[in-house]
Amino acid sequence: MNNFVFQNPTKLIFGEGQIARLAKELPRDKKILVTFGGGSVKANGVYDQVVEALKGFDYLEFWGIEPNPKVETLRKAVEICKAEGIGFLLAVGGGSTLDGTKLIAAAAVIEQDAWELVCNPKVYGGTLPFASVITLPATGSEMNRGAVISNVATGEKYAFYNTFPTFSILDPTTTFSLPPFQVACGLADTFVHVMEQYLTTTGISPLMDRWAEGVLQTVVEVAPKVRENQNDYDAMATYMLSATMGLNGFIAMGVPQDWATHMIGHEITALCGTTHGQTLVIVLPGVMNEMREQKSSKIVQFGERVWGITEGTTDERIDRTIAATEEFFRSLGLATRLSELGIGEDVVEEIVRRFRERGTLLGERANVDYAIVERVLRQRM
Ligand code: NZQ
Ligand code: ZN
Repeated sequence: MNNFVFQNPTKLIFGEGQIARLAKELPRDKKILVTFGGGSVKANGVYDQVVEALKGFDYLEFWGIEPNPKVETLRKAVEICKAEGIGFLLAVGGGSTLDGTKLIAAAAVIEQDAWELVCNPKVYGGTLPFASVITLPATGSEMNRGAVISNVATGEKYAFYNTFPTFSILDPTTTFSLPPFQVACGLADTFVHVMEQYLTTTGISPLMDRWAEGVLQTVVEVAPKVRENQNDYDAMATYMLSATMGLNGFIAMGVPQDWATHMIGHEITALCGTTHGQTLVIVLPGVMNEMREQKSSKIVQFGERVWGITEGTTDERIDRTIAATEEFFRSLGLATRLSELGIGEDVVEEIVRRFRERGTLLGERANVDYAIVERVLRQRM
């Protein structure tokens, strides 16, 4: 096992009716900026609950953080923070609203432009504290330091790291209103987050392996229930907690991580606007197949423990494991091929060109170069 330091300070507040606790958790001595997406929270009653809890607080609202939050939008909120002396931020919505808020919070305390923070971690100079009411289980953003920010002008999409949210409120009833496509993408994103931290090599941490497999098995088990009835509180609660546990550091202690699927997926989103989880289920089976030798023992373990594949040669087991994984993604109602979304050769060439020019090396051994990325994507046409 590798050395590690683990500290996750986010206070998790979970369950029906917990939005009311904002009144207890938010600071009364600071001016608060409450950030929102495009309005889903008005339709599902979350906004009303937040406004009720915020009675007596000094706060402003900022609307319009879009899916795949754009730095162009976030800059406007940074200006508001600086002009209004904002001292705390509360994101209410999906991962995009929270990710955008993470960048706003850090950009509000520096002179440089917000995009510089994304391109160069050295620009980071601290942050305003922030918290969330999360309404879409997927990113784990509610309990991690990450954010993924898009730049429309340059067609880029990159990760940025701030500190952790002070607290996050997760009320499963807020997810009842999610569009089924977003639920499918959220389940897929959760599954692939675990895979990025798990599908490397065997024998490093049996405990992390079992924990990761536990989350994967739970997602597989709950997915049909969630898809059948989105008003099933227990199923949605299980899905919601799985998403948080999938990317809050608990399954990543002392183990290597891959993230090639995410890096390739981000390029598809940057160029085509494709929803994040949808990109991942297209790419992952290709990464598994291309890296089948390096990852062979782990793919076999995953196939056995998650899909119950115990027979055949190693190659046969790997083939069946990849097929079962793709089949699971299809059972969510998602496309697993680029051509199904009308994404063609030109996009593949552009992604490969970008990776070649940047000299990017992906994966747990930093050996996935542009040539491997090209093979992955061509398999997924
Ligand atoms: O904008 P509104 O009107 O709120 O609508 C949103 C949006 O249209 C809607 N929605 C959210 N909660 C809802 C709801 N609609 C009805 N009922 C609800 N309860 O869903 C749409 C998608 O929302 P978005 O926030 O974009 O989705 P998600 O949470 O999946 O976030 C995706 C972003 O997170 C990044 C992705 O790259 C993408 O930019 N990621 C962030 C990570 C992190 N912070 O650690 C890791 C992930 O790998 C991921 O890359
Ligand atoms: Zn993701």
